[in-house]
Amino acid sequence: MIEIVGHIKRLAVGFGTMTSFGPETYGESFADVYDQWYGQITDAEATADFLANRHRSGPVLEVGVGTGRLAQPLIQRGMVVVGLDASASMLAQCPRSVHAVRADMAALPFAASSFGSALCAFNTLFNLPSAQSQQDFLNQIAHCLAPGAPLVIETITGHGLGSSNDSSLGVSRVEVDRLVLSATTVDADAQTITGQHVDITSCGIKMRPWFLRWTTPTQLDELVDQTRLQLVERYATWAQDPFEASGELAISVYERLKD
Ligand SMILES: C[S@@+](CC[C@H](N)C(=O)[O-])C[C@H]1O[C@@H](n2cnc3c(N)ncnc32)[C@H](O)[C@@H]1O
Repeated sequence: MIEIVGHIKRLAVGFGTMTSFGPETYGESFADVYDQWYGQITDAEATADFLANRHRSGPVLEVGVGTGRLAQPLIQRGMVVVGLDASASMLAQCPRSVHAVRADMAALPFAASSFGSALCAFNTLFNLPSAQSQQDFLNQIAHCLAPGAPLVIETITGHGLGSSNDSSLGVSRVEVDRLVLSATTVDADAQTITGQHVDITSCGIKMRPWFLRWTTPTQLDELVDQTRLQLVERYATWAQDPFEASGELAISVYERLKD
């Protein structure tokens, strides 16, 4: 055990040097445990109601569809869902009723005005590692949406993260045959969080890395201002509680401007 703790301490210290995080890294690292660990992480039914109430005609694009956690309740509401993800292991778990597309969200492979709405939930936008890549994504998704169609983005606001450079190591899960330790470092200047779940079982140790580059709601609006989208609504929850600047979550609705 002492050996393991020493190993983890070295990992925590070395996080700033992780360089090989690609579009598929998160999905390939978490696909086998995603539904078990995160199946209930947010309210999927409320998310689907929120989107269905704003959807125009045509298919909906879910960016970063993962295992289909949010796509399934959308389909149950009669929507046709195109689910884009960079991870083959995530898409392998999606129900067949999702029209799966394996691609990097930084290079959307869709024609103009293809979708009646788009959803980018649970911080998936922040898997793009820079403000520029997020800007590029917003430009492209504006192109893919039909005029008047909404883009719904769920993100942390960065509130409470933005003023310090912290590293932490905690215990995520303790089970009879499993211990999961969670290490994170925050770089306040770069607005990044680099994390690692260290999953220890009798089979060995599996590393599950994750990375977020957060953008505050104000910064996100500034990026959107460069596109054919405009902010029309913002809430603190999927139940439409009012958004407050000091809150930790933002659900932003942008609408594709009419031509
Ligand atoms: C946090 S999960 C969210 C999954 C699902 N939307 C949900 O809420 O359960 C983020 C998903 O985005 C995918 N992803 C991350 N970066 C991506 C990229 N650059 N292009 C396409 N998909 C990406 C991951 O593989 C993962 O499935």
